Amino acid sequence: MKIFIDSADVTEIKKYISSGICDGVTTNPTICLKCGVKNGIQGVMERTSEIAKLVFPKPVSVEVTSEDPEEILRQAREYSRLADNIAVKITVIDSKGNSFLPLAYKLVSEGIRVNVTAITTFNQAIFAAKAIQSGLSVSSSKAPHFVSIFGGRISEEQGSERAFKIIEDFRKWLDIHNMQGIEIIVGSVRSQENVECWSRTGAHILTITPEVLNKCLCGARTKETVSQFLEDSKKTMERFLE
Ligand code: E4P
Repeated sequence: MKIFIDSADVTEIKKYISSGICDGVTTNPTICLKCGVKNGIQGVMERTSEIAKLVFPKPVSVEVTSEDPEEILRQAREYSRLADNIAVKITVIDSKGNSFLPLAYKLVSEGIRVNVTAITTFNQAIFAAKAIQSGLSVSSSKAPHFVSIFGGRISEEQGSERAFKIIEDFRKWLDIHNMQGIEIIVGSVRSQENVECWSRTGAHILTITPEVLNKCLCGARTKETVSQFLEDSKKTMERFLE
């Protein structure tokens, strides 16, 4: 299973690269805002380029910032030219419920790597995978493409077991139908418990914020244990010096 860093904070991303646990990065407009990205689309492009260089050849997902189909295609093409490891995030529908799968299909057909995002149902996931697969059948696009299931947002309404079931069933569905070149990202991971639970679903990737990752790496009992070892090693040294 791969771990992506769900952040646009370069310092945090570097920290996880140097720990050997960063297999890629995901951002979205909310994350960019939180991480201090300024100057509109130009600022997003600059930060994305910086991150793409840092993690190359591992993938970086960057989300389009419009609901207008022509503008989405324009931005997607522009983002994809920034670096070879960019995946363009397109939400599965717009805010009124209209499907954006025609855009995902078109971009994959053009050889652009996509991440169909904000998925909260099993059906959205399988149709997103179908659109990507159809695009792949007419292009020699870089794989993998991604389908992002928002575990946390599903859990808020239906519980984390329901999110588990959707992710696990979708992984089985991809395997049964031999859907190649498509990987599942589990996003909106809110807690250590979510990491523990959803890393058992068979999802290819969990994308995790630095806040949740830090909590996963820490542990009150471990801190206590390390303090005890330190104290006792000091005592042993003192005895040695007697
Ligand atoms: C990742 O790709 C997603 O954009 C992110 O995990 C969404 O998280 P949220 O549900 O906290 O907005």
